[in-house]
Amino acid sequence: MDKLLITGGSPLQGEVRISGSKNAALPILASTLLTETPTLIKNVPHLRDVTTMVGLLGHMGVEVTIDDRLNVQVDTSSIHSYSAPYDLVKTMRASVLVLGPLLARFGHADVSLPGGCAIGSRPVNLHIQGLRQMGAEINVENGYIHARAKRLQGTVLYLDLVTVTGTENLMMAAALAEGTTVLENAAKEPEVVDLAHCLNSMGAKIQGAGTDTIEIQGVEHLHGTEYVVLPDRIETGTYLVAAAMTGGQVRVKQADPASLDAVLAKLRETGAQIQIGADWIELNMAGRRPTAVDIYTAPHPAFPTDMQAQFCALNAVAQGTGTVTETVFENRFMHIQELQRLGADIRLEGNTAICTGVEQLFGAPVMATDLRASASLVLAALVAKGDTLVDRIYHLDRGYECMEEKLMQLGCEVRRVP
Ligand code: EPZ
Repeated sequence: MDKLLITGGSPLQGEVRISGSKNAALPILASTLLTETPTLIKNVPHLRDVTTMVGLLGHMGVEVTIDDRLNVQVDTSSIHSYSAPYDLVKTMRASVLVLGPLLARFGHADVSLPGGCAIGSRPVNLHIQGLRQMGAEINVENGYIHARAKRLQGTVLYLDLVTVTGTENLMMAAALAEGTTVLENAAKEPEVVDLAHCLNSMGAKIQGAGTDTIEIQGVEHLHGTEYVVLPDRIETGTYLVAAAMTGGQVRVKQADPASLDAVLAKLRETGAQIQIGADWIELNMAGRRPTAVDIYTAPHPAFPTDMQAQFCALNAVAQGTGTVTETVFENRFMHIQELQRLGADIRLEGNTAICTGVEQLFGAPVMATDLRASASLVLAALVAKGDTLVDRIYHLDRGYECMEEKLMQLGCEVRRVP
């Protein structure tokens, strides 16, 4: 099992290129199941989760070819299976995103229920409820979602909770349904908007993505397209927090500044100077220590839960005390006890972490538990005195492309050890 060995103390300096968004690439790859002619998806990040999704499409008989620039060509004409087996789904919950497209295009889907994960039980009841309201026959038994539908029927769906992949699954299902579907209380994340843009480039008729109400007029067929995935806003935020924590100066390129307003506002509150261009952001905290900030996670456009762990790490070394409240997931503080091993002064009270910044963290062996928790441990290791060994970094590989190379480019002492 790979580990990362990090020696803290160097401020991050320089430029880093942001990869395509994992959480946009996954639904967009699933949406290729809807098209009758080949699709080319560009700027796909080279991540374990993307490899899993490509493997899942391949398992169904879909032809997926990846060129050396990581453009992914998908041709579904040879599909022979409509199932997503447990051994694939258990490694990546987002596999459930094939449910809506399979049902809409082929009327048939057998998808393993995604297990829970470290951050919460993460049910998919709203995905299933919405598809049933569109006329699908769905039986959940032996850990599988068995779904059948002659032709899904458009209807008005009110989502009890804001769910990102729930919104995406239902939007993809509605694209080929009979009649019009309205999604009320829809998720507004930039990745939902990116998926809607991709679907419209395939011939779908979707309006309102990015607002609470999305209207989808069903069409008979969708055709192939060429689509460029938007930059990853969470990867962007992660490198900017690293620059702020280490008192450095970093420019992130090929980014999408408009997709992380809440994060940039909080970074400014820490005292960072931020300049923004069309596709780049520069953060300057040269020689200064960040001020602690209060964080309250909620669905977009509020502060993203996927940046919560990173700000716990920042608050751990900031001036003063900051509170971090997690309202989206029930158990997303697994990083706290690992940060405490590095000397952080953080205590949990219900779903709020109270962080009092310390002058210095000290390197120690720590263990990653989930994707964003592992990022927060890497960030803390960048400022800790001495060596930190981060174990189980396969979590990191799921969501950060070539993290050690990018950190080395920025002047960090980091290397992967077996
Ligand atoms: C997406 O997960 C992201 N994953 C997550 O990113 C992200 O943290 C999350 O949205 C919130 O922004 C992908 O896009 C692949 P939800 P998703 O459905 O869609 C409850 C990362 O680090 N809920 O918006 O699974 C659920 O339990 C990952 O990149 C139901 O109860 O999240 C949670 O408490 C982690 N029933 C809340 O809603 C449902 O049917 C929000 O979940 C669906 C969701």
